[in-house]
Amino acid sequence: MQKKISILFVCLGNICRSPMAEGIFNTIIAREGVDHRFEVDSAGLLNFHQDEMADSRMRLHAHNRGYELVTRSRQILKNDLNRFDWILVMDEQNYEGLHRMTTDPSQFAKIHRITDFCVNKKAAHVPDPYYGGDQGFEDVIDLLEDACEGLLTELKKVL
Ligand code: 4NP
Repeated sequence: MQKKISILFVCLGNICRSPMAEGIFNTIIAREGVDHRFEVDSAGLLNFHQDEMADSRMRLHAHNRGYELVTRSRQILKNDLNRFDWILVMDEQNYEGLHRMTTDPSQFAKIHRITDFCVNKKAAHVPDPYYGGDQGFEDVIDLLEDACEGLLTELKKVL
């Protein structure tokens, strides 16, 4: 059997952006019939929301766009940097937080900014929607749909 590619989406709280990325990526790989080739998870730098479902606003916006978010928040573990092949962060704060956790260059090489995979959108990070209004949640979905499509295009080259 071929080895699965393991992917971890990371944000600060693991209740808005990274669960949304996980939901979108899972939808895309199912649509493309390649879901059996991936292991997908998400985590947060903080433990403030440990075991909570995704933020109710994020879940509502997701639902209205056809995604059901069913994950529970978990804090990232040191071993995630060994366990996962690709680690996708939402912003520079996430990037730096993860960088500080790395213990060797092979771990560092796994960390990527998800916006680097955007094809149609131009953005340097996925803005944190937590303290904002409805439009922020819509923007998260728009950016992550574009970035996740681009990510799968890249990963198909190594599938
Ligand atoms: P996320 O959003 O990182 O996209 O899940 C946040 C959720 C919670 C907090 C910050 C950002 N917080 O400070 O509790």
